[in-house]
Amino acid sequence: MQDIYRALVLDVVNGQSNMQIQERSIADLPEGEVTIRVAYSSVNFKDGMATLPNRIIRKYPMVPGIDLAGIVIASTDERYQVGDQVIATSYEIGVSHPGGFSEIARVPAKWVVPLPDGLTMKEAMILGTAGFTAALSIIRLEENGLSKEQGPVLVTGSTGGVGSVAVDILAKNGYEVTASTGKESEHAYLKELGATTILHRNEVVAVDDKPMRQQLWAGAVDPVGGKTLEYLLSTMKYGGSVALSGLTGGTDVSTSVYPFILRGVNLLGIDSVYCPMNQRKMVWERLASDMKPNHLTDQMVKEITLEELPKTLSQILEGQIRGRTIVKL
Ligand SMILES: NC(=O)c1ccc[n+]([C@@H]2O[C@H](COP(=O)([O-])OP(=O)(O)OC[C@H]3O[C@@H](n4cnc5c(N)ncnc54)[C@H](OP(=O)(O)O)[C@@H]3O)[C@@H](O)[C@H]2O)c1
Repeated sequence: MQDIYRALVLDVVNGQSNMQIQERSIADLPEGEVTIRVAYSSVNFKDGMATLPNRIIRKYPMVPGIDLAGIVIASTDERYQVGDQVIATSYEIGVSHPGGFSEIARVPAKWVVPLPDGLTMKEAMILGTAGFTAALSIIRLEENGLSKEQGPVLVTGSTGGVGSVAVDILAKNGYEVTASTGKESEHAYLKELGATTILHRNEVVAVDDKPMRQQLWAGAVDPVGGKTLEYLLSTMKYGGSVALSGLTGGTDVSTSVYPFILRGVNLLGIDSVYCPMNQRKMVWERLASDMKPNHLTDQMVKEITLEELPKTLSQILEGQIRGRTIVKL
């Protein structure tokens, strides 16, 4: 095993974040049963937030990167052998346990998912936590009764990671998809992914405190939250569900009991971080089969190096990224 590897290391110096690519030694790796030669990581909104001092990272210095896919180079757990291709996302990775922006990583075996047949390591990271969250959102919507006959599904923050993958999976599976975005320049991209109608993000925010409006949506995938979630709850069709995963539009939500008790609307909380392992494996299996997006390897992805990460991490916080960015290690 090579003794020296490169990693992006994040620290806070005089209250400011500082990022540097450092050479580290195998002895610097944390405890864990599975050591992985990382092939790809990916950039998520949470990785951007991790660059803000003391917001996400719980221990400094830290190697950020909540996602990784690679090949096992050492294992003390009998479930994983040298040469196995694996995925590890979320849990404490890139938060309090050194993460994926590193050529070599070591994680507990209980966080590891075998790469499913039907996905390459690169595809797994194009999906990453954002794609996993999109699929989990759609699975939860369907478990709560959503079907394509019921009418349009609204995807908010649609040019982002969660949004792009959700638009693609829904369209591929025959849903009528409306996408909301703040990026006028990306309408052609959203149409290519399969959206039939595109709204400006300003059209899908609550402008007053009316609890109910015209019934429009059979379901919604919402990584935006805030006033957008207020709008969604007030415009869901009878029995419709909103799968809420994110907060790019804000954390505060004001609503009333009416959409829930008069229209049977469901608000479904989506968490990828501590999603139980049996469900996690099921979601990855579906992402490798019937829920594998159609546009994974072209329109949706940009590939960068460790050196390009600091710039990308600041762009994702400003909502400037389209689709998914992967990091080749
Ligand atoms: N619950 C979970 O387990 C989980 C997992 C993954 C992600 N998340 C959360 O989901 C959210 C999206 O993650 P992501 O990886 O898709 O991020 P992303 O790639 O940065 O996409 C976020 C998108 O939100 C939209 N947006 C940005 N600022 C906005 C604003 N002020 N108001 C309304 N919309 C805005 C933009 O899309 P448009 O320009 O197209 O409008 C942006 O591209 C984040 O809050 C993230 O933390 C949660």
